[in-house]
Amino acid sequence: MTSRTCLSVILAAGEGTRMKSALPKVLHPIARLPIVAHVAKAVHSAGGSDIALVVGRGADAVRDAVKSVVSNVTVHEQKERLGTAHAVLAARDAIARGYDDILVVFGDTPLIETAALDQARARLADGADVVVMGFRPANPAGYGRLVEKNGKLIAIREDKDASESEKKIGFCNGGLMALRGAGALQLLDKVTNANAKGEYYLTDVVEIGNAMGKSVVAIEIAVDSVIGINTRVELAEAEAIWQTRRRRAMMLAGVSIQAPETVFFAHDTLVEADVSLEPNIVFGQGVSIASGAVIHSFSYLEGARIGPKAEVGPFARLRPGADLAEKAKVGNFVEVKNAKIGMGAKVGHLTYLGDATVGAGTNIGAGTITCNYDGYNKALTEIGAGTFIGSNTSLVAPLSVGDNAYVASGSVITQNVPADALAFGRAHQVVKEGRAVELRARYAAQKNAKKAE
Ligand code: UD1
Ligand code: CA
Repeated sequence: MTSRTCLSVILAAGEGTRMKSALPKVLHPIARLPIVAHVAKAVHSAGGSDIALVVGRGADAVRDAVKSVVSNVTVHEQKERLGTAHAVLAARDAIARGYDDILVVFGDTPLIETAALDQARARLADGADVVVMGFRPANPAGYGRLVEKNGKLIAIREDKDASESEKKIGFCNGGLMALRGAGALQLLDKVTNANAKGEYYLTDVVEIGNAMGKSVVAIEIAVDSVIGINTRVELAEAEAIWQTRRRRAMMLAGVSIQAPETVFFAHDTLVEADVSLEPNIVFGQGVSIASGAVIHSFSYLEGARIGPKAEVGPFARLRPGADLAEKAKVGNFVEVKNAKIGMGAKVGHLTYLGDATVGAGTNIGAGTITCNYDGYNKALTEIGAGTFIGSNTSLVAPLSVGDNAYVASGSVITQNVPADALAFGRAHQVVKEGRAVELRARYAAQKNAKKAE
């Protein structure tokens, strides 16, 4: 990577009215990360880790979202929304600090890839003063057209200002731009609002730059990279593209995904090679899966760490703090929250483990419930190694069950069970020979008496 310094100006002052939302547009999530944080991540990876964030509504929340991924952020309020060049100039102080490169990106364009930004910066390093990121959409209507002459980019004409012949141009402005830091403010200060919308267009720096004898170039980037989010329909489309990209990257990195289109990752899902993912799995944030693990169908995982060769599901729910050691098994209709499951331990069916530790090799029977909450406080259940918890057991926390202990099925355990002990916590069974015959006769007589009434 280049040693040139770089400032990224993220424009996020738009109202986003078409989202029809109380939440600012750029805070809507893709892969569970706000749109604007995706943008920040991309510029950060391209070396633009000093960020000038231009905001309008919801400034604090937008800043926090960006700060969650990149720390060097200054916030610049654009009080009136007078156009993209005006927005960039809201960050004048940051630009004036003096950078080799300036990347101007839109806060609502989350699929921008680092490679495209790298390419734009490489052109600046090669001597360009303005680099425009162009693309070829299926339908160019609405976009600024890149007007070229003799292989040179001479102007960007906004849709509303374009002539009929200019409207036929298919090469469009993706909106993102890279500017040589030296002279950037000079260019921007020359932009006026003499156009159809009465806005200060960032795109005017192309003509201004040419007039000043600067080197202005366009590069072409993939259509997917510059998709802007304006409506929830576009939000879902962008999510789909993000998921497709990530599934592909995962598979190429050695993860087996049987039906990729049915597995949904979060932005930070970590999956090692030789993990196998069956169809229909959803990941919330903060999941990591070690090599050799298998996640069976219809499982929902969030904030969970899955050890090597562990098995999860089908139909398992792992909530934050679920921590499965090597070869641990969590089966169908099992919910695990804030609980460590030891090496090779089995939690096969119909169980809730919350605020618990389970030792290596322990078997938790079907229907076991940790009663970890009394309506006010949470309490811990500690289960040792090699224990056997019989089916349908309620473990009333706080509680400990020692190593190699045995708990009888159907128990309600309220007191600690020492190591190697056998614990019963259930009513005694009473058997009365022949009484079923008597009982049937009595009930039949009662029924007949009712009929006769
Ligand atoms: C812009 C480009 C157009 C390009 C298109 C690609 C200009 C003049 N036009 O048009 O050539 O084809 O993007 O999608 O740049 N913003 C502010 N403050 C403002 C105005 C805009 O922060 O005063 C932000 C918006 O929140 C948004 C971005 O800048 O994130 C782009 O603004 P928008 O009005 O959507 O520009 P377009 O008309 O789509
Ligand atoms: Ca737009």
